[in-house]
Amino acid sequence: MRTASHPDQPQPNPRHHPIARLTHWISAAALAVMAASGLRIFNASPAFAPKGTPPFPLWPWEGTPAPAWLTLGGWLGGARHWHFAMMWLLVLNGAVYLLHLFRRGRWRTIVPRVGGWRDAIEMARFYLYLRRDHPVQGKHNALQQYAYTTMLVIGVLLVLSGLAIWKPVTLGWLTRALGGYAWARWWHFAAMLLLAVLVLVHVVMVFTVDPYALRAMTTGKYDAARWSPEARHARPLQHLAPARVMPARTASAGAVPATTEAP
Ligand code: HEM
Ligand code: HEM
Repeated sequence: MRTASHPDQPQPNPRHHPIARLTHWISAAALAVMAASGLRIFNASPAFAPKGTPPFPLWPWEGTPAPAWLTLGGWLGGARHWHFAMMWLLVLNGAVYLLHLFRRGRWRTIVPRVGGWRDAIEMARFYLYLRRDHPVQGKHNALQQYAYTTMLVIGVLLVLSGLAIWKPVTLGWLTRALGGYAWARWWHFAAMLLLAVLVLVHVVMVFTVDPYALRAMTTGKYDAARWSPEARHARPLQHLAPARVMPARTASAGAVPATTEAP
């Protein structure tokens, strides 16, 4: 019988199912290629308003291309090849992840529960040093759940608006539902920007709050009792916080007295 968990011992249940781990990294790579090739496509015509029409209301930077180092494909044709090739992988991979989420109700770990906004506020207060102790959380905290669910919704919007500008005649109803071709382009672009911001915050939070989760997302190993942000009362810049705002550690967190963590 195992009495204590050791970080290098395999956990009986990996924190993330192999399907979740595989599809996570494939979608991260595929989305990066889609965004970079999309930006190269955008640079071929960096304005949403058709020629001879007034400036587009929701894009004050009409005519300004994206920096070349952010783009992929070299030229419009090359970028379109990348975009359409990666599209199949992205959609297939996304479908596998969604099926995985809906088997055995795993979506409940991702989608916030009704009234979850209260938990999200508590989590935000903790991150802003307005609350001392880490709120009780399940697999993912409420802020993570809102972020992950928003990412999934944006993914769907990207696919729908992408289809609307790819097949504006065959799928004319979809293009019209998004406000016409120029607006569908804008939705596609705006969704990409919003996703990029969320992913940036996601990556910063992983490195500053729960770097152990990187191991959980690759090998599946995770010792929640020792490593979870809840057990460590982890939040960004915690190591810089003066001792008086350090949370009092409880014996159940299995940890070191608070003073030993002060700078
Ligand atoms: C099923 C998924 C997708 C389809 C069918 C699709 C389709 C398209 C099409 C047809 C274009 C315009 C091509 C052209 O005018 O030559 C485009 C542009 C673009 N796509 Fe996608 N796309 C998809 C997913 C994505 C994703 C996931 C991202 C970003 C993460 C993305 C970012 C962009 C960007 C930034 C542009 C340039 C916007 C513009 O100037 O019109 N696309 N996409
Ligand atoms: C387009 C890019 C990305 C998207 C859409 C994305 C989305 C997600 C989602 C939805 C989850 C929850 C998975 C689940 O529990 O089923 C997740 C978890 C995770 N992501 Fe990402 N991610 C992206 C990029 C990245 C990158 C670049 C990194 C790190 C360098 C990263 C690190 C992680 C880690 C460590 C977890 C596990 C968090 C935990 O165990 O609580 N992600 N991501």
